[in-house]
Amino acid sequence: MKKLLVMVLVFSLFVTMGIFANGKQESTKPAEAQTVEVLHWWTSGGEAKALNVLKNMLEKQGVKWIDAPVAGGGGGQAMTVLRARVTAGDPPAAVQMLGYDITDWAKMGVLANLNDVALKGNWDAVIPTAIKKFSKYNGVWIAAPVNVHSTNWVWANKKIMDDLGIAVPKTWDEYIAALDKVKASGKIALAAGGQPWQTATIFDGVVLSTGGPEFYKKAFIELDPKALGSDTMLKAFKRMEKLRTYVDDNFSGRDWNLATAMVIEGQAAFQMMGDWAKGEFFNAGKVAGKDFIAFRTPGTQGSVTFNSDQFVMFKVNKDKRAAQKLLAQDILSPKFQIAFNLVKGSVPARTDVSDAKFTIIGKKAMKDLAEANKNGTLLGSMAHGHAAPAAVKNAVYDVVSGNFNGQYDAKQAVKELVKAVAASKD
Ligand code: BGC
Repeated sequence: MKKLLVMVLVFSLFVTMGIFANGKQESTKPAEAQTVEVLHWWTSGGEAKALNVLKNMLEKQGVKWIDAPVAGGGGGQAMTVLRARVTAGDPPAAVQMLGYDITDWAKMGVLANLNDVALKGNWDAVIPTAIKKFSKYNGVWIAAPVNVHSTNWVWANKKIMDDLGIAVPKTWDEYIAALDKVKASGKIALAAGGQPWQTATIFDGVVLSTGGPEFYKKAFIELDPKALGSDTMLKAFKRMEKLRTYVDDNFSGRDWNLATAMVIEGQAAFQMMGDWAKGEFFNAGKVAGKDFIAFRTPGTQGSVTFNSDQFVMFKVNKDKRAAQKLLAQDILSPKFQIAFNLVKGSVPARTDVSDAKFTIIGKKAMKDLAEANKNGTLLGSMAHGHAAPAAVKNAVYDVVSGNFNGQYDAKQAVKELVKAVAASKD
């Protein structure tokens, strides 16, 4: 009897520890061999809906999706979890990733080679150079780009604008006048969340508007100390301080999608955010052009600060590779690029996809992207890892949020920025 009890206890311990259900055990059973674990930070309503497009597509092809979500826009927390997983020798098959993070992982030699899938799908011919720069490392395809987002957008509640007689602002001064009008009406003028990546997202547009594309390039892509320490940068920080006066006092720690909800519900007029915000409007049943509008951050028309979500494939055991390749192949299919991006708020990562199904804002985003690409004004987003590697990005986050939270004034912020960027380059 005692022996039986011990056996039962040991068995249930094994079950709890997952010993009968772990990956290695499953791989010996063909029916369960097709799984793909995906680490990502798409946890808001709109994001989850978009991710489901991919999940459903794979599940229809017999691949079981193992979801590994890590909340937090910009992916900072997701990258922390990823480092721990790789250190433990247990990387997920696929990971959502941005720009220079991809290159950093590629350098470590831990990513899978997707060249056969890319060749078959003719990726080289249809993916824009600015994105390919991150999808390939030393001639090897290591990531499948899902989309192109951009950060220099303002999202607006149409009814508030109409009620207050506000036209789409074209210049910074017109924008400030619009914000003043909303503030005077008693509504919140600017919905924002006090998380460093969100403040940095606003800063992308403010720096571009204040200094223009050449200045943005010098400061954020070339990391030129003169540009970083310039009067133009001082002006950009002063503009950030001005913007802070339009944000409500409860902004600290607020998630970006809750700030979008404030615009959706008519508590606030504007949000300065990447076009993933559009996915939240859609998810709430709102119609582009009727319930909400979007315009480029005033003063940045003609330029695009972009970021592209890519699924990076890690080296995994042989039994997981077929599903991984299928995922990569599906991601670049024109059918998926349209279906997914319609929900996500981004635009396709292929240049040969029709804009017919996209709304007025999506069509504009596709046109802006193509024009900026042609004119040399397609610029990597600093806030979302496409201007400089993570060490520099994080240094910028610290200074920008220090300034927005009142820790440093604009003058001090400029000095801190020069110092922090120099230190992070070492
Ligand atoms: C990603 C978007 C995502 C946003 C908020 C950005 O870094 O590129 O896909 O929707 O973060 O989570």
